[in-house]
Amino acid sequence: MKRSTLPLILTLIALPAAAHEGVKDPQVLARMNVMETIGKQMGTLGGMAKGEVAFDADAAAAAKATLEKASAQVLPTFEPPATDPHSEAAPAIWEEWDGFTTQSVAMDAAIAALDTSSLETLRAGLGGIGQTCRTCHKAYRIKK
Ligand code: HEC
Repeated sequence: MKRSTLPLILTLIALPAAAHEGVKDPQVLARMNVMETIGKQMGTLGGMAKGEVAFDADAAAAAKATLEKASAQVLPTFEPPATDPHSEAAPAIWEEWDGFTTQSVAMDAAIAALDTSSLETLRAGLGGIGQTCRTCHKAYRIKK
């Protein structure tokens, strides 16, 4: 990826704060917490990629490990079709569970492929992960 396009992509995946305020359903909260964890790690890695914070290989590896664990929690936490007025989950998730699964697996793979050993490899891999966020959100997240 061209370096000049990276800040834009990272801005697009930047997370809105506390979207789950007031949510009571524990299953909805659980899946939101998984997404929030994913968002936080992407924020950490994105900060390094953009040069806002110094690159730190140990911190980047830790963020990747947390991302991998959280990504593995997406299917188990989203599978129950729980609803909440604050939820941004689209009904299509459960109508097309196979499609949702494909998007989740794509994120697993992009995260697994991320090489956190240097700033260059981090920058090279982050855009691919961000793409999986956007593709799934476009299909399965209703922006409120
Ligand atoms: C497999 C589909 C899928 C993928 C991949 C995915 N998301 Fe999500 N994400 C969702 C859905 C659906 C919601 C809405 C959940 C709800 O409100 O019940 C959501 C919500 C969120 C939220 C709001 C959480 C909250 O507190 O309400 C953040 C932040 C987020 N995603 C970040 C990310 C980032 C960053 C990535 C990529 C690294 C990503 N997501 C990848 C489906 C996905």
